[in-house]
Amino acid sequence: MPLLDPTLIFPVTHPDGRVSRTTVYLKNIIDHPRMEIGDYSYYTHYGKLAETAEILAPYLFTGSHERLVIGKFVQIARGSYFVTSSANHPMSGITTYPFRIFKPETFGYNDLPVKDTVVGHDVWIGHDAVIMPGVQIGAGAIIAASSVVTRNVPPYAVVGGNPATLIRMRYTDEIIAELLDLAWWDWPIEKIEANLQALETGDLEALKKA
Ligand SMILES: CC(C)(COP(=O)(O)OP(=O)(O)OC[C@H]1O[C@@H](n2cnc3c(N)ncnc32)[C@H](O)[C@@H]1OP(=O)(O)O)[C@@H](O)C(=O)NCCC(=O)NCCS
Repeated sequence: MPLLDPTLIFPVTHPDGRVSRTTVYLKNIIDHPRMEIGDYSYYTHYGKLAETAEILAPYLFTGSHERLVIGKFVQIARGSYFVTSSANHPMSGITTYPFRIFKPETFGYNDLPVKDTVVGHDVWIGHDAVIMPGVQIGAGAIIAASSVVTRNVPPYAVVGGNPATLIRMRYTDEIIAELLDLAWWDWPIEKIEANLQALETGDLEALKKA
């Protein structure tokens, strides 16, 4: 079996040989000065390939200052997207009308604090989720389908709803600390694949010896 190839654009080939054109490794198709995306992180969407960055983060346009940082092995389902800081209209005055976006020389102006959005490694973002500005999602977290995530999500938490609240923690605090320390996502792909069974079954003892 060949190893997972992080350089592919379309990493999913069906058993009948058909290559899925809707699941893409983001790193290989997005070239955006304020998006940082780790290896093996994928997004499923049905839009045009060239529009992937816009579909994923529609407000990270020219003149915006915030960043979107996505770790490795992040799984982003169809319909999910990031509403980043520049999406916010000014709220401290009388009007929220964004007068300044209609003139190129003032387009990037916004008196609101800029907050980066950060998604940790191995996060699973379910179908149709919306991640709001400045949210930080810890490694191994799960975002339930159709959630609106307005607050930070701790590592290995499962959150859901609008606004998203904690459904459950996937592991105890002690195990989460061990998993973060293990950082399997930083292993070479050969080591990851050699230890797939332990990763899939949650055999932490085997992983610690790997
Ligand atoms: C979050 C998720 C993983 C939870 O799965 P699970 O651990 O089997 O959880 P359960 O179905 O037992 O539900 C546990 C609780 O979470 C709630 N819940 C589940 N999905 C939810 C959602 N999308 N939004 C809000 N709450 C949700 C349930 O109502 C239940 O609440 P209760 O304990 O008060 O009854 C799953 O519901 C989900 O959203 N998966 C995403 C699937 C998807 O979008 N795939 C896209 C292709 S990758």
